[in-house]
Amino acid sequence: MFKGNALVIGASGGIGSELVSQLIQSSLYHQVHAVSRTLPSEPVREVCYHKVDSEDEGNIASLCQSLRAQNIQFTLVISCIGALHGVNDEHPVTPEKRLEDINSRNLDFYFATNTIIPAIWLKNVEQLLKGKHEAKLVFFSARVGSITDNKLGGWYGYRASKAALNMLIQTAQIELQRRAKNIAIVSYHPGTVDTGLSKPFQNNVPKGKLFTAAFTVSQLLNMLPDLTVQNAPYYLDWQGKRIPW
Ligand SMILES: NC(=O)c1ccc[n+]([C@@H]2O[C@H](COP(=O)([O-])OP(=O)(O)OC[C@H]3O[C@@H](n4cnc5c(N)ncnc54)[C@H](OP(=O)(O)O)[C@@H]3O)[C@@H](O)[C@H]2O)c1
Repeated sequence: MFKGNALVIGASGGIGSELVSQLIQSSLYHQVHAVSRTLPSEPVREVCYHKVDSEDEGNIASLCQSLRAQNIQFTLVISCIGALHGVNDEHPVTPEKRLEDINSRNLDFYFATNTIIPAIWLKNVEQLLKGKHEAKLVFFSARVGSITDNKLGGWYGYRASKAALNMLIQTAQIELQRRAKNIAIVSYHPGTVDTGLSKPFQNNVPKGKLFTAAFTVSQLLNMLPDLTVQNAPYYLDWQGKRIPW
């Protein structure tokens, strides 16, 4: 049986590092490639690591061209890149609670990390996935990126940047239906997961609703085989339920 290769982008994060481990354990892929800004202190022998600064498109393009030139056929690419809080231009960025909290530095941070960098990867990985084998391209999005499902408000930058990512996914799927008919794109909401991203916001999470990275990653990997190009794009939560866009 044909075994494709898998690529995890944002592989050093809480969810990304767990994805790499479970993909290796599954033995479903010929090789597992891992892209991150920093390499792990204890690399795993079976993983092919690539240190890439995704803020420069030239770095993304040259990695993808080099993998393509080596004829490495990928059937799974997953991007875990994203941020809910951090530092931009030496200023802390935290999710906005009200209109007065909006400023361009924070919006720059959210859109750069949650929308623009994933969009540049979306453009460059097509050449790795296109082919005769069914392939999945997954982006970690978030339920708060749903325009239809927005009941609570707040978190302007994070919400809007994930909604914009979802729109890029929908638009790209329409184009791929014409030029790369084997690729299904998935926007995935992992639930609230115990990682550095959710740490400052875990107090309000209902009991039993703070998941481990291991749980949400196994949910995702279990649902992937059932997803088809015909029904793509998907916007799915950790239970495999469709979220309204
Ligand atoms: N955790 C949750 O509760 C939750 C809920 C909904 C959605 N999500 C989504 O799930 C994804 C993974 O989140 P996580 O919980 O694993 O968070 P995390 O541990 O903070 O990991 C985030 C990842 O994004 C990468 N990243 C951030 N800014 C970057 C930049 N400017 N350039 C390149 N890489 C950058 C990080 O790389 P470095 O390691 O190099 O910093 C890291 O690999 C995110 O897209 C997030 O929005 C998470």
